[in-house]
Amino acid sequence: MNNESIATKKILIIGATSAIANSCAKIWATEKSQFLLVARNNEKLAQIADDLKVRGAVDVETIKADMNNFEMHKEILQRISTIDIALIAHGTLPNQQNCQENVAVALQEFSSNALSVISFLTLLANKMEQQKSGTIAVISSVAGDRGRASNYLYGSAKAAITTFCSGLRARLSKSNVHVLTIKPGFVATPMTQGLALPKILVATSDQVAKDICNAITKKCDSIYTPKFWFLIMLIIKNIPEKIFKKLKF
Ligand SMILES: NC(=O)c1ccc[n+]([C@@H]2O[C@H](COP(=O)([O-])OP(=O)(O)OC[C@H]3O[C@@H](n4cnc5c(N)ncnc54)[C@H](OP(=O)(O)O)[C@@H]3O)[C@@H](O)[C@H]2O)c1
Repeated sequence: MNNESIATKKILIIGATSAIANSCAKIWATEKSQFLLVARNNEKLAQIADDLKVRGAVDVETIKADMNNFEMHKEILQRISTIDIALIAHGTLPNQQNCQENVAVALQEFSSNALSVISFLTLLANKMEQQKSGTIAVISSVAGDRGRASNYLYGSAKAAITTFCSGLRARLSKSNVHVLTIKPGFVATPMTQGLALPKILVATSDQVAKDICNAITKKCDSIYTPKFWFLIMLIIKNIPEKIFKKLKF
């Protein structure tokens, strides 16, 4: 084995068409990584694959999969032997009002943001536990820290992911597998397009990607990105329920 093959990282990205995931992939491409990209849009996948190759990726394979199709999860993992980094990035931002009015919509959104992640992580964790190395990085959200009236379906799905990852981290630490929980605040991506967000609090996907890549290198357990969200969420988590339920957000 030569030095070049030792340095090559094997990276699996679920939800690879996400803006945040793509920004991470661009960083890893310059480090001569190999990719398996999974997303539900073949055209976008092909464009991203070409771009990563131009940026230095050694090899890029793609799989078209809707993560709500749980049958695909095993198949995805059969396509990759060793995993150095698995980034789980897929997600949707549900319309809370629609979720309140239609149980089927609420459950579908919960599946996209929580059940599909839990299903895939269960299989991935077993594989990486045997491998005894690597990082599982999962994008949760600050929204999972406390349920707000305006987006508690999304928030509760992200809370499930955060708690699941906390337990998974404790389990897999015994097998030398690193589990990172990522809690972004507001990020300018297609997911938040058109939302009236306070500009000062909105980060770019490139800023968030830098934090994610650093946290993987440093083997952090959990991060808020940008960092100032730690303080914002500390305050929000400590507002007494009597006051919190009256707040309009
Ligand atoms: N943007 C923010 O402010 C923010 C804040 C906190 C957390 N996050 C989280 O960050 C992650 C990445 O989001 P983003 O901001 O980068 O937004 P984005 O660019 O809209 O990415 C979301 C991605 O998820 C994919 N996706 C959705 N449902 C899927 C499914 N069932 N199967 C496969 N792929 C699916 C979408 O694929 P298509 O291209 O096919 O639609 C899209 O590529 C998400 O987990 C999100 O919840 C975002």
